[in-house]
Amino acid sequence: MRETVQVLRGGRAHVYLVAEERADGSLLLAPAPVPGAPETAPDEEGRAEPAADGAAGILRVSDLTVAYGHRTAVDSISFEIRRGEIFGLLGPNGAGKTSTLSAIEGLVKPRSGTIRLDGIDPRRHPSRARARMGVQLQATSFQSELRITQIVRLYAGLYGVELSDAQIADGLRAIGLETEASKQFKQLSGGQQQRLSLYIAVVHDPALLLLDEPTAGLDPQSRRQLWGRIEHIRRGGGSILLTTHSMEEAQAVCDRVAIIDHGALLTLETPRELIAKHRDDPRVRAVAHGEVTLEDVFIGLTGSEIRD
Ligand SMILES: Nc1ncnc2c1ncn2[C@@H]1O[C@H](COP(=O)(O)OP(=O)(O)O)[C@@H](O)[C@H]1O
Ligand SMILES: [Mg+2]
Repeated sequence: MRETVQVLRGGRAHVYLVAEERADGSLLLAPAPVPGAPETAPDEEGRAEPAADGAAGILRVSDLTVAYGHRTAVDSISFEIRRGEIFGLLGPNGAGKTSTLSAIEGLVKPRSGTIRLDGIDPRRHPSRARARMGVQLQATSFQSELRITQIVRLYAGLYGVELSDAQIADGLRAIGLETEASKQFKQLSGGQQQRLSLYIAVVHDPALLLLDEPTAGLDPQSRRQLWGRIEHIRRGGGSILLTTHSMEEAQAVCDRVAIIDHGALLTLETPRELIAKHRDDPRVRAVAHGEVTLEDVFIGLTGSEIRD
Protein backbone atom coordinates (compact mmCIF):
# COMPACT_ATOMS: atom_id res chain seq x y z
CA MET A 1 0.00 0.00 0.00
CA ARG A 2 1.37 3.38 -0.99
CA GLU A 3 1.01 6.00 1.74
CA THR A 4 1.29 9.18 -0.20
CA VAL A 5 1.15 10.23 -3.80
CA GLN A 6 2.33 13.31 -5.59
CA VAL A 7 -0.21 15.06 -7.70
CA LEU A 8 1.14 17.47 -10.28
CA ARG A 9 -0.93 20.57 -10.44
CA GLY A 10 -0.06 23.88 -11.98
CA GLY A 11 3.47 22.61 -12.47
CA ARG A 12 3.91 21.90 -8.74
CA ALA A 13 3.85 18.60 -6.93
CA HIS A 14 1.29 18.27 -4.13
CA VAL A 15 1.41 15.38 -1.71
CA TYR A 16 -1.71 13.63 -0.48
CA LEU A 17 -2.46 10.66 1.70
CA VAL A 18 -3.67 7.53 -0.01
CA ALA A 19 -6.79 6.48 1.87
CA GLU A 20 -7.26 3.37 -0.16
CA GLU A 21 -5.64 1.59 -3.06
CA ARG A 22 -8.22 -0.42 -4.91
CA ALA A 23 -7.81 -3.70 -6.71
CA ASP A 24 -8.17 -1.92 -10.04
CA GLY A 25 -5.20 0.27 -9.26
CA SER A 26 -7.18 3.46 -8.68
CA LEU A 27 -6.44 5.50 -5.60
CA LEU A 28 -8.75 7.15 -3.13
CA LEU A 29 -6.94 10.20 -1.82
CA ALA A 30 -7.53 11.62 1.61
CA PRO A 31 -9.03 15.08 1.41
CA ALA A 32 -6.47 16.52 3.80
CA PRO A 33 -2.98 17.12 2.48
CA VAL A 34 -0.10 15.48 4.26
CA PRO A 35 1.18 17.64 7.14
CA GLY A 36 3.94 19.81 5.84
CA ALA A 37 2.70 19.57 2.28
CA PRO A 38 1.18 22.63 0.60
CA GLU A 39 -2.22 23.56 2.05
CA THR A 40 -4.23 22.80 -1.01
CA ALA A 41 -7.18 20.48 -1.25
CA PRO A 42 -6.96 17.88 -4.00
CA ASP A 43 -8.34 19.41 -7.13
CA GLU A 44 -10.47 17.64 -9.65
CA GLU A 45 -7.50 16.19 -11.46
CA GLY A 46 -5.85 14.91 -8.35
CA ARG A 47 -8.86 13.40 -6.72
CA ALA A 48 -9.47 9.75 -7.40
CA GLU A 49 -12.78 8.63 -8.83
CA PRO A 50 -15.63 7.29 -6.73
CA ALA A 51 -15.40 3.63 -5.82
CA ALA A 52 -15.81 1.20 -8.68
CA ASP A 53 -18.70 -0.50 -6.93
CA GLY A 54 -19.13 -4.04 -8.23
CA ALA A 55 -22.90 -3.70 -8.01
CA ALA A 56 -23.00 -0.44 -9.97
CA GLY A 57 -23.30 -0.41 -13.73
CA ILE A 58 -20.18 -0.56 -15.84
CA LEU A 59 -21.16 2.64 -17.66
CA ARG A 60 -23.22 5.56 -16.44
CA VAL A 61 -24.14 8.35 -18.82
CA SER A 62 -25.99 11.25 -17.22
CA ASP A 63 -27.55 14.20 -19.04
CA LEU A 64 -25.03 13.89 -21.85
CA THR A 65 -25.17 16.66 -24.42
CA VAL A 66 -22.85 16.73 -27.42
CA ALA A 67 -22.90 19.63 -29.85
CA TYR A 68 -20.94 20.56 -32.95
CA GLY A 69 -21.15 24.32 -33.13
CA HIS A 70 -24.84 25.16 -33.09
CA ARG A 71 -25.92 21.65 -33.96
CA THR A 72 -26.93 19.55 -30.98
CA ALA A 73 -26.18 15.92 -31.82
CA VAL A 74 -26.95 14.41 -28.40
CA ASP A 75 -29.49 16.14 -26.23
CA SER A 76 -29.28 15.39 -22.53
CA ILE A 77 -29.47 11.61 -22.63
CA SER A 78 -29.03 9.35 -19.61
CA PHE A 79 -28.65 5.60 -19.41
CA GLU A 80 -26.74 2.99 -17.51
CA ILE A 81 -25.22 -0.26 -18.74
CA ARG A 82 -25.14 -3.11 -16.30
CA ARG A 83 -22.23 -5.45 -15.90
CA GLY A 84 -22.52 -8.38 -18.27
CA GLU A 85 -25.17 -6.66 -20.35
CA ILE A 86 -25.43 -6.30 -24.12
CA PHE A 87 -26.99 -2.90 -24.63
CA GLY A 88 -28.23 -1.69 -28.00
CA LEU A 89 -28.44 1.91 -29.12
CA LEU A 90 -30.95 2.14 -31.96
CA GLY A 91 -31.74 5.18 -34.00
CA PRO A 92 -32.10 6.37 -37.58
CA ASN A 93 -29.18 8.00 -39.40
CA GLY A 94 -28.12 11.17 -37.67
CA ALA A 95 -29.86 10.22 -34.40
CA GLY A 96 -26.69 10.75 -32.38
CA LYS A 97 -25.46 7.19 -31.87
CA THR A 98 -21.88 7.70 -33.02
CA SER A 99 -21.66 11.01 -31.16
CA THR A 100 -22.71 9.24 -27.96
CA LEU A 101 -20.05 6.58 -28.48
CA SER A 102 -17.44 9.19 -29.33
CA ALA A 103 -18.13 11.00 -26.07
CA ILE A 104 -17.78 7.74 -24.12
CA GLU A 105 -14.55 6.97 -25.94
CA GLY A 106 -13.28 10.42 -24.98
CA LEU A 107 -12.97 11.49 -28.60
CA VAL A 108 -15.38 14.41 -28.38
CA LYS A 109 -15.81 16.72 -25.45
CA PRO A 110 -19.39 16.73 -24.22
CA ARG A 111 -21.01 20.13 -23.91
CA SER A 112 -22.47 18.97 -20.61
CA GLY A 113 -23.28 15.89 -18.62
CA THR A 114 -21.18 13.19 -17.05
CA ILE A 115 -19.81 9.85 -18.16
CA ARG A 116 -18.43 7.26 -15.77
CA LEU A 117 -16.85 4.09 -17.06
CA ASP A 118 -16.30 1.77 -14.14
CA GLY A 119 -16.34 4.92 -12.00
CA ILE A 120 -13.79 6.69 -14.21
CA ASP A 121 -14.27 9.94 -16.10
CA PRO A 122 -12.83 9.26 -19.59
CA ARG A 123 -12.04 12.94 -20.20
CA ARG A 124 -10.11 13.31 -17.00
CA HIS A 125 -8.40 9.95 -17.05
CA PRO A 126 -8.27 8.93 -20.70
CA SER A 127 -5.64 6.25 -20.35
CA ARG A 128 -7.31 4.61 -17.38
CA ALA A 129 -10.62 4.64 -19.20
CA ARG A 130 -9.04 3.35 -22.38
CA ALA A 131 -7.57 0.39 -20.52
CA ARG A 132 -11.10 -0.65 -19.57
CA MET A 133 -12.74 -0.19 -22.93
CA GLY A 134 -12.45 -1.91 -26.23
CA VAL A 135 -13.36 0.02 -29.33
CA GLN A 136 -13.87 -1.73 -32.59
CA LEU A 137 -11.68 0.09 -35.02
CA GLN A 138 -12.88 0.83 -38.48
CA ALA A 139 -11.16 -1.31 -41.09
CA THR A 140 -9.61 1.80 -42.62
CA SER A 141 -7.66 2.54 -39.44
CA PHE A 142 -5.38 -0.44 -40.00
CA GLN A 143 -2.30 0.05 -42.09
CA SER A 144 -3.30 -2.01 -45.07
CA GLU A 145 0.21 -3.12 -46.00
CA LEU A 146 0.95 -4.67 -42.60
CA ARG A 147 0.58 -8.40 -42.20
CA ILE A 148 -2.07 -9.78 -39.89
CA THR A 149 0.32 -10.99 -37.19
CA GLN A 150 2.07 -7.61 -37.26
CA ILE A 151 -1.24 -5.79 -36.81
CA VAL A 152 -2.21 -7.99 -33.88
CA ARG A 153 1.18 -7.50 -32.21
CA LEU A 154 1.12 -3.76 -32.83
CA TYR A 155 -2.34 -3.14 -31.40
CA ALA A 156 -1.89 -5.54 -28.50
CA GLY A 157 1.29 -3.63 -27.70
CA LEU A 158 -0.58 -0.34 -27.70
CA TYR A 159 -2.78 -1.79 -24.97
CA GLY A 160 0.25 -3.06 -23.08
CA VAL A 161 -0.43 -6.70 -23.91
CA GLU A 162 2.53 -8.75 -25.05
CA LEU A 163 1.59 -11.78 -27.10
CA SER A 164 3.89 -14.66 -28.03
CA ASP A 165 3.81 -16.12 -31.54
CA ALA A 166 1.92 -19.12 -30.14
CA GLN A 167 -0.68 -16.89 -28.49
CA ILE A 168 -1.20 -14.96 -31.71
CA ALA A 169 -1.55 -18.22 -33.63
CA ASP A 170 -4.13 -19.45 -31.09
CA GLY A 171 -6.04 -16.19 -31.30
CA LEU A 172 -6.12 -16.26 -35.08
CA ARG A 173 -7.23 -19.88 -35.04
CA ALA A 174 -10.10 -18.97 -32.72
CA ILE A 175 -11.39 -16.46 -35.25
CA GLY A 176 -10.78 -18.70 -38.25
CA LEU A 177 -7.85 -16.71 -39.62
CA GLU A 178 -5.04 -19.17 -38.98
CA THR A 179 -4.23 -19.50 -42.68
CA GLU A 180 -4.33 -15.73 -43.26
CA ALA A 181 -1.66 -14.88 -40.67
CA SER A 182 0.88 -13.68 -43.22
CA LYS A 183 -1.63 -11.91 -45.45
CA GLN A 184 -2.00 -8.18 -45.59
CA PHE A 185 -5.08 -6.59 -44.08
CA LYS A 186 -6.37 -5.46 -47.47
CA GLN A 187 -6.31 -9.07 -48.71
CA LEU A 188 -8.94 -10.13 -46.16
CA SER A 189 -12.66 -10.30 -46.91
CA GLY A 190 -15.03 -7.91 -45.15
CA GLY A 191 -16.09 -10.59 -42.67
CA GLN A 192 -12.47 -11.53 -41.96
CA GLN A 193 -11.55 -7.88 -41.40
CA GLN A 194 -14.47 -7.55 -39.01
CA ARG A 195 -13.43 -10.62 -37.03
CA LEU A 196 -9.87 -9.38 -36.79
CA SER A 197 -10.88 -5.91 -35.63
CA LEU A 198 -13.18 -7.37 -32.98
CA TYR A 199 -10.40 -9.66 -31.80
CA ILE A 200 -8.04 -6.71 -31.49
CA ALA A 201 -10.68 -4.64 -29.68
CA VAL A 202 -10.84 -7.21 -26.90
CA VAL A 203 -7.17 -8.23 -26.77
CA HIS A 204 -6.73 -6.39 -23.43
CA ASP A 205 -9.86 -7.97 -21.98
CA PRO A 206 -11.81 -4.72 -21.59
CA ALA A 207 -14.72 -4.38 -19.19
CA LEU A 208 -16.78 -2.57 -21.82
CA LEU A 209 -16.77 -3.11 -25.56
CA LEU A 210 -18.10 -0.36 -27.82
CA LEU A 211 -19.25 -1.40 -31.28
CA ASP A 212 -20.58 1.12 -33.79
CA GLU A 213 -22.75 -0.70 -36.31
CA PRO A 214 -20.57 -3.81 -36.15
CA THR A 215 -22.59 -5.86 -38.60
CA ALA A 216 -23.28 -3.22 -41.24
CA GLY A 217 -22.47 -4.69 -44.64
CA LEU A 218 -21.81 -8.23 -43.40
CA ASP A 219 -23.38 -11.27 -45.01
CA PRO A 220 -25.76 -13.36 -42.86
CA GLN A 221 -23.11 -15.95 -41.98
CA SER A 222 -20.59 -13.34 -40.85
CA ARG A 223 -23.30 -11.53 -38.94
CA ARG A 224 -24.30 -14.68 -37.05
CA GLN A 225 -20.69 -15.38 -36.29
CA LEU A 226 -20.22 -11.89 -34.91
CA TRP A 227 -23.31 -12.28 -32.71
CA GLY A 228 -21.77 -15.48 -31.41
CA ARG A 229 -18.52 -13.71 -30.59
CA ILE A 230 -20.34 -10.85 -28.85
CA GLU A 231 -22.22 -13.35 -26.71
CA HIS A 232 -18.97 -15.17 -26.00
CA ILE A 233 -17.40 -11.92 -24.79
CA ARG A 234 -20.36 -11.34 -22.52
CA ARG A 235 -20.12 -14.86 -21.09
CA GLY A 236 -16.53 -14.03 -20.26
CA GLY A 237 -17.78 -11.16 -18.07
CA GLY A 238 -17.65 -8.29 -20.57
CA SER A 239 -20.36 -5.70 -21.19
CA ILE A 240 -21.16 -4.48 -24.67
CA LEU A 241 -22.62 -1.30 -26.07
CA LEU A 242 -23.49 -1.59 -29.74
CA THR A 243 -25.30 0.57 -32.20
CA THR A 244 -27.35 -0.97 -34.94
CA HIS A 245 -30.02 -0.31 -37.53
CA SER A 246 -31.08 -3.91 -37.41
CA MET A 247 -34.12 -4.72 -35.31
CA GLU A 248 -33.39 -8.38 -35.84
CA GLU A 249 -29.98 -7.85 -34.31
CA ALA A 250 -31.36 -5.88 -31.39
CA GLN A 251 -33.89 -8.60 -30.73
CA ALA A 252 -31.37 -11.41 -31.12
CA VAL A 253 -28.51 -10.17 -28.98
CA CYS A 254 -29.48 -7.15 -26.88
CA ASP A 255 -30.65 -7.47 -23.30
CA ARG A 256 -31.96 -3.92 -23.39
CA VAL A 257 -32.24 -1.36 -26.10
CA ALA A 258 -32.56 2.40 -26.12
CA ILE A 259 -34.15 4.13 -29.10
CA ILE A 260 -32.75 7.57 -29.72
CA ASP A 261 -33.69 10.17 -32.30
CA HIS A 262 -32.66 13.78 -32.87
CA GLY A 263 -30.27 13.29 -29.97
CA ALA A 264 -33.00 12.44 -27.48
CA LEU A 265 -33.64 9.14 -25.77
CA LEU A 266 -37.20 8.06 -26.57
CA THR A 267 -37.49 4.77 -24.72
CA LEU A 268 -35.33 2.14 -23.02
CA GLU A 269 -36.46 -1.42 -22.24
CA THR A 270 -35.81 -5.04 -23.07
CA PRO A 271 -36.88 -5.74 -26.66
CA ARG A 272 -39.89 -7.66 -25.38
CA GLU A 273 -40.94 -4.92 -22.97
CA LEU A 274 -40.50 -2.29 -25.68
CA ILE A 275 -43.13 -4.01 -27.77
CA ALA A 276 -45.46 -4.51 -24.79
CA LYS A 277 -45.06 -0.89 -23.72
CA HIS A 278 -45.66 0.72 -27.11
CA ARG A 279 -47.95 -1.74 -28.90
CA ASP A 280 -51.04 0.38 -28.29
CA ASP A 281 -49.41 3.67 -29.25
CA PRO A 282 -51.47 4.94 -32.24
CA ARG A 283 -48.22 5.84 -34.10
CA VAL A 284 -47.08 2.25 -33.74
CA ARG A 285 -50.49 0.82 -34.63
CA ALA A 286 -50.55 2.92 -37.78
CA VAL A 287 -47.37 1.33 -39.15
CA ALA A 288 -47.89 -2.25 -37.93
CA HIS A 289 -48.82 -5.03 -40.30
CA GLY A 290 -50.46 -7.57 -38.03
CA GLU A 291 -48.66 -8.36 -34.81
CA VAL A 292 -46.54 -5.45 -33.54
CA THR A 293 -42.79 -5.97 -34.04
CA LEU A 294 -39.79 -4.11 -32.67
CA GLU A 295 -39.43 -2.45 -36.05
CA ASP A 296 -43.01 -1.18 -35.84
CA VAL A 297 -42.19 0.37 -32.48
CA PHE A 298 -39.02 1.90 -33.94
CA ILE A 299 -40.77 3.36 -37.00
CA GLY A 300 -43.78 4.44 -34.94
CA LEU A 301 -41.60 6.37 -32.48
CA THR A 302 -39.08 7.82 -34.95
CA GLY A 303 -41.36 8.43 -37.94
CA SER A 304 -41.41 7.09 -41.49
CA GLU A 305 -39.49 9.84 -43.20
CA ILE A 306 -36.19 8.86 -44.81
CA ARG A 307 -33.02 10.10 -43.08
CA ASP A 308 -29.75 10.59 -44.85
N1 LIG B 1 -18.05 16.10 -36.69
C1 LIG B 1 -19.28 16.60 -36.85
N2 LIG B 1 -19.48 17.91 -37.12
C2 LIG B 1 -20.71 18.42 -37.27
N3 LIG B 1 -21.84 17.72 -37.17
C3 LIG B 1 -21.72 16.40 -36.90
C4 LIG B 1 -20.45 15.78 -36.74
N4 LIG B 1 -20.65 14.47 -36.47
C5 LIG B 1 -21.97 14.28 -36.49
N5 LIG B 1 -22.62 15.45 -36.74
C6 LIG B 1 -24.07 15.64 -36.79
O1 LIG B 1 -24.58 15.24 -35.53
C7 LIG B 1 -25.80 14.51 -35.71
C8 LIG B 1 -25.62 13.13 -35.11
O2 LIG B 1 -24.70 12.40 -35.88
P1 LIG B 1 -24.19 10.94 -35.47
O3 LIG B 1 -23.84 10.95 -34.04
O4 LIG B 1 -23.14 10.56 -36.43
O5 LIG B 1 -25.51 10.09 -35.70
P2 LIG B 1 -25.69 8.54 -35.99
O6 LIG B 1 -24.45 7.83 -35.61
O7 LIG B 1 -26.88 8.14 -35.16
O8 LIG B 1 -26.01 8.40 -37.45
C9 LIG B 1 -26.10 14.51 -37.19
O9 LIG B 1 -26.96 15.59 -37.44
C10 LIG B 1 -24.74 14.74 -37.81
O10 LIG B 1 -24.88 15.37 -39.05
MG1 LIG C 1 -23.21 6.56 -36.72
